[in-house]
Amino acid sequence: MPMILKEQHRLAHCVSTAILALWLITGSTSARAGELKSLMKDMKSAMGGALGSQTLPEFSNFLARLRLDVDRAYKLPYKADPADYQEGMRVLSLDLDKAAQLAKTGDLAAAKQSLQTANLTKKHYHHLLN
Ligand code: HEM
Repeated sequence: MPMILKEQHRLAHCVSTAILALWLITGSTSARAGELKSLMKDMKSAMGGALGSQTLPEFSNFLARLRLDVDRAYKLPYKADPADYQEGMRVLSLDLDKAAQLAKTGDLAAAKQSLQTANLTKKHYHHLLN
């Protein structure tokens, strides 16, 4: 192959590799952003379910769902403001622990009341991050 063609071939290879890398990076970033959104939506309905529960088992089921969502959201990278994001998830996680402890004592009203602090945490960090 003549020298000039070899160079062109190499350049074309480089460009296509760069395009592929860019595609992979932007693709996975938006997939993660989409995952955060869908977790948040599920957290909203789990919160509503927990606060509207009539029985402790019902409450505990919604709380367990909320716990799974928060554990997953915790692990997602939040590049815009990682420190505040992680702090918010840590506080929210502690709020859920407290509500779960109260649920264990059998006091549904106290457990619901405690879960209201998670709403305050939500407000605070949504304000900070959005
Ligand atoms: C129980 C507590 C929470 C609930 C119910 C909740 C719910 C929601 C909802 C419904 C959205 C809108 C999703 C959409 O665009 O459709 C949202 C967005 C968001 N929330 Fe939360 N949230 C909670 C706590 C938190 C905490 C503690 C943080 C931060 C550590 C946080 C960070 C965010 C961020 C960054 C967005 C924007 C996501 C995006 O548009 O890409 N949330 N949340």
